[in-house]
Amino acid sequence: MYNVRCTKYNVKWYADFRIKITKKQPYSTFCPKLVFTHVVMENSTMTDSQEIKLAQTQNPVLDIIRKRWSARSFKPQAISQQELDTLFEAASWAPSSMNEQPWMYLYALNGSPAFEAISNTLSPGNQPWAKNAAVLIASLARRTHANNGMINKYAWYDTGSANQNLLLQAASLGILGHVMGGFHYDKATEVLQLPEEIELVCLIALGYNDVPENLEEPFRTREITPRSRRTLDTFVFQDTLNP
Ligand SMILES: Cc1cc2nc3c(=O)[nH]c(=O)nc-3n(C[C@H](O)[C@H](O)[C@H](O)COP(=O)(O)O)c2cc1C
Repeated sequence: MYNVRCTKYNVKWYADFRIKITKKQPYSTFCPKLVFTHVVMENSTMTDSQEIKLAQTQNPVLDIIRKRWSARSFKPQAISQQELDTLFEAASWAPSSMNEQPWMYLYALNGSPAFEAISNTLSPGNQPWAKNAAVLIASLARRTHANNGMINKYAWYDTGSANQNLLLQAASLGILGHVMGGFHYDKATEVLQLPEEIELVCLIALGYNDVPENLEEPFRTREITPRSRRTLDTFVFQDTLNP
């Protein structure tokens, strides 16, 4: 993977070197007046993991969907308040049933007592790496509708949509997130002092990706294992589930 820089228009994007050699067309699509004398190759800033984790898809999906993945190795680099605000705003633009927006986020920065307390609720499979994240986020959902107090059965669905917006926006900023369901639920709700009507959906570790060598096993191997997905024929059906 290389960074490609168009010197004439001062724009920059990632490109796969092999694609550049065989297909020149995509670059002129990004930058219509681009001629190749204005393109220079720079050394990649992507970690090995980021290259390995890039989704190899059967169909042309959005680049940012290919780039998002659940990282475990995090740099000791803070995420700015502006970046966090951008992520939470991205989350807020998710669709929700009756525009209820039942999601809430409670976050803590690495180094704070709140971060330490949340980190201590994580399962042994998560704590060793998540304690190095820049931010830990508790993804919360309001169980009931604000106007009538009735149970909102779409609260978790909507919160999941918001989380995915957040993760994709993060990936676009070079920040990787890792959703975690592995934590001590009772301990976490106590630490977060959640009222009855607010449910803890999951925790999310966020940070800038570091090299896999910083992780101990088995996490190191997971950091460099390619991602895989079921093929469409196993979960997409037309007309009936029982052809
Ligand atoms: C609700 C939920 C809970 C998860 N819990 C954990 C967890 O506790 N620990 C972990 O390492 N990964 C966890 N994951 C991450 C998944 O393992 C990961 O998304 C999946 O393997 C696909 O990998 P990818 O996100 O890199 O594409 C969780 C993901 C979701 C959506």
